[in-house]
Amino acid sequence: MIRNFLIIYFFAILMVFSVFGFRGCKSQRTPIEIFPDMDHQAKFHPQDRTSFFPDGRTDRPPVPGAVPFVTTKQEIFDHLRPGGHFREDAYVVTGRNGNGEWGDGIPVEISRVNMEHGRELYNIYCAICHGTSGNGRGVIAAERYGYPTIVSLLQERLIDQPDGQVYNTVANGWNTMKGYASQINVEDRWKVVLYVRALQRASAGTMEDVPEARRGELEL
Ligand code: HEC
Repeated sequence: MIRNFLIIYFFAILMVFSVFGFRGCKSQRTPIEIFPDMDHQAKFHPQDRTSFFPDGRTDRPPVPGAVPFVTTKQEIFDHLRPGGHFREDAYVVTGRNGNGEWGDGIPVEISRVNMEHGRELYNIYCAICHGTSGNGRGVIAAERYGYPTIVSLLQERLIDQPDGQVYNTVANGWNTMKGYASQINVEDRWKVVLYVRALQRASAGTMEDVPEARRGELEL
């Protein structure tokens, strides 16, 4: 009886010491890792060198066309900071004038290239709801997939709306529409506004807008 007790006692002490007894002792030997988890992986450390990339840097620059993920608040902050790197003009970034009112004017060059780009962006991001012509009957509009609040961009109220407010809707959304600030950068948002204006103008087009020589091509 007592012998058994002593044996158990001995092993109990042995176990306690083997588990806790050497805590804090330093050893040069590699510890045994029972669960290595993901401690050891092939990775680059920040600001390290590598021969993998031609410029020898492990830090990679953003790919061309990457959109900085910023909220409008940050954009304004960037603007206000002396030498703010974002944009010179608060209107360009926020759509509002110095006095806080919606401004007018499209601060990108009104050119065919920008218009085409605006169309491309519109067709990617907006047409699904507002329709390729802007009439509010895109693929997911009410009668197809039941998104009931989508509006026509060709209505009087939006035609008269200041450019800055349309810009802001693209950036931050409006009521039940989400903003596109994380997908469309500042300059491109203005190109979308440019194209929305073109759609609105086209919707109000008359025969007078068609060059005389080409009127015959219209099957009216
Ligand atoms: C997922 C669907 C959806 C997409 C995509 C979408 N919109 Fe909208 N948009 C809406 C809805 C819904 C409303 C109505 C919001 C409300 O008043 O509740 C709206 C409203 C608007 C308005 C009017 C805002 C106002 O002042 O009444 C404009 C302008 C507009 N969208 C432009 C755009 C542009 C430009 C794009 C592309 C960048 C876009 N929308 C993408 C759903 C969408």
